[in-house]
Parts: sequence; structure tokens; C-alpha cells
Amino acid sequence: MDKKIIVALDGYSSSGKSTMARELARRAGYVYVDSGAMYRAVTLYAIRHDMVNPDSTIKTAELVKALPDINVSFAPAGADGVQHTLLNGEDVESLIRDMKVSSLVSPVAVIPEVRERLTAMQQAFGKERGIVMDGRDIGTTVFPDAELKVYVCTDAEERARRRFKELKEKGSDVSFEEVLANVKERDRIDSTREVSPLRKADDAIELDNGKMSPDEQMEWLMQRFKEAVGKEPHN
Ligand code: CDP
Repeated sequence: MDKKIIVALDGYSSSGKSTMARELARRAGYVYVDSGAMYRAVTLYAIRHDMVNPDSTIKTAELVKALPDINVSFAPAGADGVQHTLLNGEDVESLIRDMKVSSLVSPVAVIPEVRERLTAMQQAFGKERGIVMDGRDIGTTVFPDAELKVYVCTDAEERARRRFKELKEKGSDVSFEEVLANVKERDRIDSTREVSPLRKADDAIELDNGKMSPDEQMEWLMQRFKEAVGKEPHN
């Protein structure tokens, strides 16, 4: 049987990591986990339980106290081919992608206890290996022993353009400026926080996909994957 490996894809927001990670998992027959969706689900929980102050800071003590009651899991991909995120069993996939959650998720993700709980869940998902996970600290903290680590870097304007297009297609009425400001602000918070900041793991391969088509990115990633496994993956 093929050796099963762990693939960690890290990088800034909206860099196309999730699309690449999902497609790699599909081709390899691996499990895909969107770790950002888990931080987003916890953020939705905080919003719903009045744990956000009027100045948009998080009521940290209350959220930390509630953590044992927060469970995040995933429902297998359905007809739309997309895996859905479940918050305590409820499908919250579309709710966690809106701008309200996007604007509060990075402040939630700086809380060490939140990171500790989600990191433990993520490590449990990867116990059997054969997993592709994308996020910010997968190669550095969650799976430092991952056989393949990719660090995706793309210019902020290009990332904001992609995210803006995605949100528009979903019918959102956000402005490009709003999306760009959110992308930049999350970049700042994610890369300067104390616990597990976004940074390239020493043994990660860098991918600047700003000028690559989706097909070119996948070709590049499949090549790295084959090298890491040492043989062709199953289709
Ligand atoms: O989809 P996008 O790349 O914009 O973001 P995401 O992957 O859904 O992650 C949302 C937020 O969760 C990030 O901006 C981080 O603040 C946080 N996050 C994190 O701290 N660690 C991870 N492993 C994944 C996400």
C-alpha cells in the first residue's frame, strides 16, 4: 500500500490554499481539513453567545470558559462537492464565510486556549496520516513532522481580488476596499500574534501563485506530492 503522508499548506488569507488542498485530497484519496473553518466556527459561536464587545474586542474569559462546550466537526462532501463545517452538529458552512465572521476571526485566533483546543482536534484528525490540512500554523505547530509543507505567498491585492469575486458570486454586497482592508488586517494580526504566528516553516517549500492559473498550481502541487510520497498517488 502507498505510504500515507501529511500535507500542510500554510499561507495568508485568500491565497487559494483551500482550493488546492481540497483538490489534492480528492486526487490522493486523502481527508481534507480546513483549519480556518474551525477558527471561523468558534468565532460564530462567540458572536451568537454575545461574547463580542461593542468595540469588537472578544470577551476572552467567557469564550475560554465555554470552550469545552464547543465542538467543531465536518460533514463529508455532499452534492455540491464541498465539505461542510458543523458547529455542535449544526451545518454552519455558509454562515462562517461572511464578513462579520471574517472581521472577528483573527482576534479570536490569537487566544491561546482557543488555539490549544483546536490544535488538539486537528492533530486527532491527522492521527492516521493521509490528510491535507490548510491554515496558518499547520507546518509549524499542528504537524511539524508533515512530510510535505507548502507555504503560499501571494500579493495582498491579488488575494483581495479573488476573495471579492468569490463573495460577489455568492451575492454579498461588500466593496473591494472592505475586502482588501480585511485581508490586510488579518495578515497583520495573524503574522504578529504571540502564539503560533503565521510564518514559513524552515522545511516548507515556498509557492508564489500570484501569476499561476489554477491548473498550473495543481500541477506544481501534484509534483511536490509525488516527490514526497515517493510514488504516484491513486486517482
Ligand atoms: O479563507 P481564508 O484564507 O481567508 O482564511 P481561513 O483559512 O478561513 O482562516 C480564517 C482565520 O483563522 C485566519 O485569518 C486566522 O486568523 C485563523 N487561522 C489560524 O489562526 N490558524 C489556522 N491554522 C487557520 C486559521
